[in-house]
Amino acid sequence: MRSPQPDLSKRNADPACYVESIRELACTPNDDEMGLAGGVALGTIGGTKSLPQLTNLANPGRVVGERIAAAAGIAVFDLRRASAFTSKILSRDVPPARISQLLAQFTQRKAGPDSLATALDRTPATRDNARLALRWLHSTGLQPANLVAAFNKAAGFDVEPLRATSEFVAKLGAEVRSRGDATRGREIFCRADLACVNCHSVGGEGGNIGPDLNAIGSGQPLDFIIGAVLEPNREVKESFEAVEVTTKDGETYTGFRANAGDGEFALRDTVRNEVIRIRQDRISQQRNIGSVMPDGLFNQFTREELIDLFRYLAELGKGKP
Ligand code: HEC
Repeated sequence: MRSPQPDLSKRNADPACYVESIRELACTPNDDEMGLAGGVALGTIGGTKSLPQLTNLANPGRVVGERIAAAAGIAVFDLRRASAFTSKILSRDVPPARISQLLAQFTQRKAGPDSLATALDRTPATRDNARLALRWLHSTGLQPANLVAAFNKAAGFDVEPLRATSEFVAKLGAEVRSRGDATRGREIFCRADLACVNCHSVGGEGGNIGPDLNAIGSGQPLDFIIGAVLEPNREVKESFEAVEVTTKDGETYTGFRANAGDGEFALRDTVRNEVIRIRQDRISQQRNIGSVMPDGLFNQFTREELIDLFRYLAELGKGKP
């Protein structure tokens, strides 16, 4: 049987042969995943040899899909260069769905977030790109400090996060009881930029990275809820202590421990949303990182919004709508 495919062994030898298909892939209008896969394939197979082609695709004159595919390809073998290209891409507004794809190229590599943060200090993201980037990072539970700081700065959120001191909690609690509006609070809880629903479910709807909040209001006092939301790391709920694992290849995974077989480590990855199994001998580093729930979510809040959100949470499980 004749295969219509070109000789793959030759293709391996010369990454230039891929350029045309990658350019085609990167331009596939309804399949951004495909374009990205093309860029990564070129970077993986060609390594530094594919740099000229990828650099050409990363050119500002190219459509954004091609530039993202190129940055993803370069990230495979040269994070610093990929970071420089990425900060340039993010310095002009990018379609929201593309931001997470682009960032994932960095968050899944050990030195990726810091490298991108350094480039963003030089060439900052637009305000909207930065907000979308933070929204995605919040929803995944990833909080690489330098990268979050770079985006917070570009988004205009670079203020000290609220601290749940006992004074603050007592005063806010009194306001929640006297004038909080649970209906408005529910709208805030469901807002995409906060990502609460990405990780928590209420009434069977929402994500499962964090505990369900069906009965949080009847099960916990208001002061506790305020503290848990403003400073997630103060008391991390049992079995929700997150770990970060780095492999010898420099890949990183974040999530919760899962049942593992002999000689392996298993983790419910909160970013990839699946159980990852890694052979123990592939692991180079493993550390507890506390809660994956982001702090600093509230820097952009008005006091009224905070009051309403906590009223909503306080009433969950108390039989009110
Ligand atoms: C990236 C995922 C994530 C996001 C986003 C997130 N949370 Fe959480 N949340 C968690 C995890 C995991 C825990 C359990 C660990 C801990 O105690 O911090 C938690 C704990 C809590 C708790 C304490 C629950 C308990 O039973 O002790 C409350 C209340 C809560 N979150 C509310 C919120 C609200 C409100 C938002 C949005 C403003 C939010 N969370 C956003 C992951 C998330």
